[in-house]
Amino acid sequence: MRDSRETFVNHAFVAGSPVGHSRSPLIHRHWLNAFGLAGDYSKLEISPDDFPAFMETLHNGTSGFCGGNITIPHKETACRLSDRPDELCLELGAANTLWFEGGEIQATNTDGFGFAANLDQQAPGWDKQETAVVLGAGGASRAIIQAVRDRGFKSIRVVNRTLDKARELADRFGEKVSAHPLEALGEVITGAGLFINTTSLGMKGASAPQIDFSPLSAGAIVTDIVYVPLLTPFLQQAEKQGFKTVDGLGMLLHQAAPGFEKWFGKQPVVDAELRQIIIDDMDRHG
Ligand code: ATR
Repeated sequence: MRDSRETFVNHAFVAGSPVGHSRSPLIHRHWLNAFGLAGDYSKLEISPDDFPAFMETLHNGTSGFCGGNITIPHKETACRLSDRPDELCLELGAANTLWFEGGEIQATNTDGFGFAANLDQQAPGWDKQETAVVLGAGGASRAIIQAVRDRGFKSIRVVNRTLDKARELADRFGEKVSAHPLEALGEVITGAGLFINTTSLGMKGASAPQIDFSPLSAGAIVTDIVYVPLLTPFLQQAEKQGFKTVDGLGMLLHQAAPGFEKWFGKQPVVDAELRQIIIDDMDRHG
């Protein structure tokens, strides 16, 4: 793909700190191989102090990259320092994907797309539901609230241990979004068709509270953005209680697709082979 200075560049990056755990190179190298494309994708460990200078190399065309992903803790700075952040990332205040167009750094946030595309694949029709409950009000929660709202949900109930953070999101994302304390969870899930855990509860063997999902509507879907382990405590509980569940690994895979298309010009697929590559890596490295 050609960059703003019309030089041939086919090397993308993920920039973060720490970035060592990132599985993005596995995903993009798999797709590069699948298309038979010459190209690469590298991890860049960049400290917050050094990140603005890195953005400057993207601006002045000396970076040697055609674009890349941005991860913690640079998503906010990347949104601020890019030339053309789109509406999605402006509303979130955070960018995770950068590319060049018309000599400018374009920025978007594909986390919400990844969330919705995973459900489209694993639970088609999920967006016919009207009410969603989002557990958690951190960084990951925002993109999910945005995606669920943009797919037409009428009511999005954000439940969080720290009520003020849920309130801040309700203010940010408009009248369909309401804020609730954790203690109200039982009442808040009544009649909802979609339950999403966006907290770290249950991650890597950590315990998670028992939730009685029975007040959800019949046919409700329970999903978790935690994907280590794949079958999280919340998903286990929901399955036992007879609800359809969707694990969070697909969100990671799907959020990568728009960037690949921008950088390398091909639309990649998220299939069982790619999923297995990541599962094997998780088995090896945890
Ligand atoms: P991320 O960017 O991954 O969403 P984060 O911004 O640290 O991470 O947010 C973590 C979320 O998990 C928050 O909603 C947090 O609740 P608080 O806002 O009250 O801190 C939630 N969380 C983490 N540990 C929790 C626990 N033990 N019980 C309840 N909620 C928890």
